[in-house]
Amino acid sequence: MKIGVIKPKDSRDLRSSVHPETIDKLLNLDEIEIAIQTEMGLGISVTDDIFKSHGAAIKSRPEILQSSDFIFIQDILSEDELSRVPQGTTLVGTINPFANKSFIQKCSQQKINVASMEFVPRITRAQKMDVLSSQANLAGYVAVLSAANYFHSALPMMMTAAGTLKPAKVFIIGVGVAGLQAIATAKRLGAKVEAFDTRPVVEEQVQSLGAKFVKIDLGDTGQTDQGYAKELTEDQLNRQRELQAKVCAKSDIVITTAQLFGRPAPRLIDQATINQMMPGSVIFDMAVETGGNVEGSIVDEVVVQNGVKIIGQSHLASKVPNHASFALSNNFINFFIDFYDQESHSFNFDLEDEILNSSMLVFNGEIRNEAFK
Ligand code: NAI
Repeated sequence: MKIGVIKPKDSRDLRSSVHPETIDKLLNLDEIEIAIQTEMGLGISVTDDIFKSHGAAIKSRPEILQSSDFIFIQDILSEDELSRVPQGTTLVGTINPFANKSFIQKCSQQKINVASMEFVPRITRAQKMDVLSSQANLAGYVAVLSAANYFHSALPMMMTAAGTLKPAKVFIIGVGVAGLQAIATAKRLGAKVEAFDTRPVVEEQVQSLGAKFVKIDLGDTGQTDQGYAKELTEDQLNRQRELQAKVCAKSDIVITTAQLFGRPAPRLIDQATINQMMPGSVIFDMAVETGGNVEGSIVDEVVVQNGVKIIGQSHLASKVPNHASFALSNNFINFFIDFYDQESHSFNFDLEDEILNSSMLVFNGEIRNEAFK
């Protein structure tokens, strides 16, 4: 079976979906050939020769598109590229499905199969394949380091001969995977950390990291059976913004991570809140790529309002590309290995399986998820 691996088209993404420290797991399977796009590892200082030394072939992008059974992708293909992919090929990867419905439809028309790693269900068996978690974890870490770089003071308390330097107050809004890592990172750097999430189950996790959970009573909030937050009503959101503003006003760094799967991110910090914050403080909007939690945040820009810096950086995990690639590569390879039949040397498209049932968005020309029809 031929597996191809192609680079992301977006030059801001330095990650590689195969990593030399994990690729042997794939190459050790029987009857597997891997072709990797030229300069795949450039962003993580891995040369083509290193991949070759593991037994992979290095090929051009068009060659890989035309001659693979499976192709690992990190973003979608252009229409022109898709027209060169033979019918029956399977694309596996991160495709940002809700933003790319027409790509999914074109794949279905051309009978190109699509497995979306974003749709791997959040069940215990699939944790090793969970790209959203592996990358959000690193993104949470990067967000804190980046926010600290823009903040005009140090984060830890320091008792010096020149006086006592107060610790920074960091407020994390949204405590999923990224938020938990942001709390842990800010704590490691010595900040005083508070956090809030609409899912009440999170309170204990926040406390176990040594941070304070901010209580904001919004009535019934809850979570879906996949562990995602439910969308709040407009009244609840207004109440959240109002009560949260007081915490923002006394925070030096606010990091927002709130997302709603498949929907635009909720707007949590408005102009009125920003106006109450101290000059020199920093807001880091981790949801900037999905609509933004913060009024006025712009992708890959630092906007200054009343002395408050509002940061909207994209491709956060790619700022630590080596670790991000290591994790991504494990996620992709674990997905493939779980369904590779070592006897028939083929991929077992068992659509009754919970993981494939959810992630195979297109199979044999059929779009299998109502949201994309
Ligand atoms: P996410 O990236 O979709 O959202 C980030 C956070 O924002 C979530 O904690 C969400 O509750 C919060 N949020 C949404 N609206 C908000 C609002 N108005 N105010 C404050 N916070 C708000 O979530 P992520 O990080 O992908 O995961 C969410 C949860 O999914 C995890 O905490 C966990 O419970 C579950 N999960 C389960 C896994 C498993 O394998 N069993 C793996 C990973 C996550």
